[in-house]
Amino acid sequence: MDIKKHIASIENYPSEGIVFRDISPLLADGQAFKSAIQEIVAFCKDKEVEMIVGPEARGFIVGCPVAYEMGIGFAPARKKGKLPRETIEKSYGLEYGDDVLQLHKDAITPGQRILVCDDLLATGGTIKATIDLIEELGGEVVGTAFFIELLSLNGREKIEGYDILSLAQYE
Ligand code: PRP
Ligand code: ADE
Repeated sequence: MDIKKHIASIENYPSEGIVFRDISPLLADGQAFKSAIQEIVAFCKDKEVEMIVGPEARGFIVGCPVAYEMGIGFAPARKKGKLPRETIEKSYGLEYGDDVLQLHKDAITPGQRILVCDDLLATGGTIKATIDLIEELGGEVVGTAFFIELLSLNGREKIEGYDILSLAQYE
């Protein structure tokens, strides 16, 4: 499946100079969405993944169907102030600003094998913060999966050594 056919590019959003890659058309097409999720599930073959973690908000859209399809659990990494119980947190920078992500302290058990899912890899700030949270709780990140990778922002360099799947690449 050519996933790029289902991604809209919007210039100068959310600010001047940014080309926003919008996955809404992909989500709106049931067959294309399913096929993208199945490519991620196939990437997990032999990884013995036990839990999916996805960062708010678009990481939920990718991570939940992957977890559901694999019959395993999903833990949300949420923006600060959204999780009701004891959390750990990490601040990070991204292509257009900065933010704080939190994870419930009991979201992951030590040694658990984790796949992190998100819609897009840009600077890598979000994925690195998510990985740091998982590892602080003793989880083992066995892979990361994205619909889209923005190559010019070098996000990969922030997560060198981790297994990375991206279904579509843009400069
Ligand atoms: C977007 C996107 C990724 C992140 C990628 O999320 O969904 O999570 O940016 O950028 P990075 O690699 O530079 O960190 P955003 O923070 O805009 O939040 P949203 O999912 O709530 O829209
Ligand atoms: N998150 C960070 N950079 C982005 C971009 N260019 N398009 C969509 N989501 C993003």
